[in-house]
Amino acid sequence: MKYLRMKGYIWRPGHHVDSRDRKSLAIGVHGGCLRFLATEITQVLLERGDMKRDIELRSDTFTLPTSAMRMAMHEAEVGDNAYGEDPTVNRLEKLMAERTGHEEALYVASGTMGNLICVLTHCGRGDEIVLGNRSHLFLSEQGGPAATGSISSWPLPNERDGTLALDAIRRATRPDSVYAPRTGLICLENTQNCCGGVALTPEYIASVCELARNSGLPVHIDGERIFNAAIALGVAVEELTRQVDSVMVGLTKGLACPVGSVICGSRDFIVRARRNQRVLGGVMRQGGIVAAAGIVALEEMVDRLAEDHLNARLLAEGLNEIEGLSVDMRCVQTNLVYFHVDSKKMTPSELVARLREQGVRIALELGTPRAVTHYGIEEKDVRDALVVFRHVMKS
Ligand SMILES: Cc1ncc(COP(=O)(O)O)c(C=O)c1O
Repeated sequence: MKYLRMKGYIWRPGHHVDSRDRKSLAIGVHGGCLRFLATEITQVLLERGDMKRDIELRSDTFTLPTSAMRMAMHEAEVGDNAYGEDPTVNRLEKLMAERTGHEEALYVASGTMGNLICVLTHCGRGDEIVLGNRSHLFLSEQGGPAATGSISSWPLPNERDGTLALDAIRRATRPDSVYAPRTGLICLENTQNCCGGVALTPEYIASVCELARNSGLPVHIDGERIFNAAIALGVAVEELTRQVDSVMVGLTKGLACPVGSVICGSRDFIVRARRNQRVLGGVMRQGGIVAAAGIVALEEMVDRLAEDHLNARLLAEGLNEIEGLSVDMRCVQTNLVYFHVDSKKMTPSELVARLREQGVRIALELGTPRAVTHYGIEEKDVRDALVVFRHVMKS
C-alpha cells in the first residue's frame, strides 16, 4: 500500500509519527493491514507528509556550520592571536578588510562586541551617539555604550525603509556647547533588522557620510547582515562599506559560522579597537579554530544568500494569501519576514504557540511575528510551513 486515504486525507507509510502526533493519532499494523486506533487525525499532520520535525524560522542565528567549515576548523593552522600570530585569524581579517575596502580588520567574538568596540573606539566618556530607535544596538545590546563607556544615545525614528531622515540626523548633531554632550558618532544598520531586513543603498549611506563629515563626525555601520544587503541590491559589499569609518560584519547569521563578527576600519582605528577588545576580555587566543569557518563563509556562502531571499519572498507571498495575516511586501527585501496578525483572529503570541505545537517555529520581535529564512531552510520547508500556517489560521 503506497498511501491510505481517509476523509480526504493522505497518510504515507514511512511518515514519522512522533510523540506529539501520537496524542491525536495512533496507527498499528496488524496482519499487513493498517488499523487506525484513533480517528481524530489533524489535517496538518497528514498534509505535511515528510515535513521536518521542526521548521526553524525564528532566526538565521540557528544556522549550523557546513561540512566544509567543519573540515576547515579541524585543519586550521593556529597560533596565539593576542600576539598577532594566528595565521588563520590574520587571513580572515585580511580577506574581510579587502572585501569591505578598509585598511584593516579585527575578528571579534560577536556582533554585539563588535558594535561596542567600535563605539568605544570612536567615542569618549560623556559622548553621545545618534542611532535608530529600531536598531539592534539601541534595542538589544544591553545599553552597552552606556553600561561600559558612559556614552549616551540619541535614538531617531527609523523610517519604514530603515533610513534615518537626514534632517533628523542634522538636528540631533549637537553644536559644541558647555551644556550638551558632545555628539561622537552616527550609527546605521544594514540590513535594518527591525524594519523588516530592508537594505540601505550606497547613495543613502553616502549622503549620511557627507552630512557627518561636514560636522566632523564618524559613521559606523552595524553590518551584521550586510552581505544580505549587498546581494539584495546587486552591488559589491564594498559599495556599502568603503565610505564609512567603521563597519561590523556578521558571520553567524546567514553565513552560517558558529562564532564571530569582523570589524573593519583604518589602520589607526583597528590599533585602538584592539585595546578595547582587550578591555572587554574579548581576545580569542587560538581563534583560528573558529575563524577558519569565516574564511569558508566568505568564499562559499555569500552568493547563496540569494536563495534565502527567494524563500523569504515565497513565504511572504504565501502568508499574504492567508486570511488574518498580512505582510508589507515593500519590506521583504532579504531574508526576514515580519507580518501582522488580525487581532480578532488571535494574538501574535497565540499564533507563535499554535505554530510551535505543529512544528513551525517563529519569533516575536517587538510584538511583531517574524519568520526568517536561512541556510538549512529549503523551498520545501517554506511550502510545508505555509500548510501549517493555513491550518492554524483556519482552526
Ligand atoms: C542587526 C544586528 N546587529 C547585531 C547583532 C548582534 O550579533 P550577535 O548575536 O553576534 O551579538 C544582531 C543579532 O541578531 C543583529 O540582528
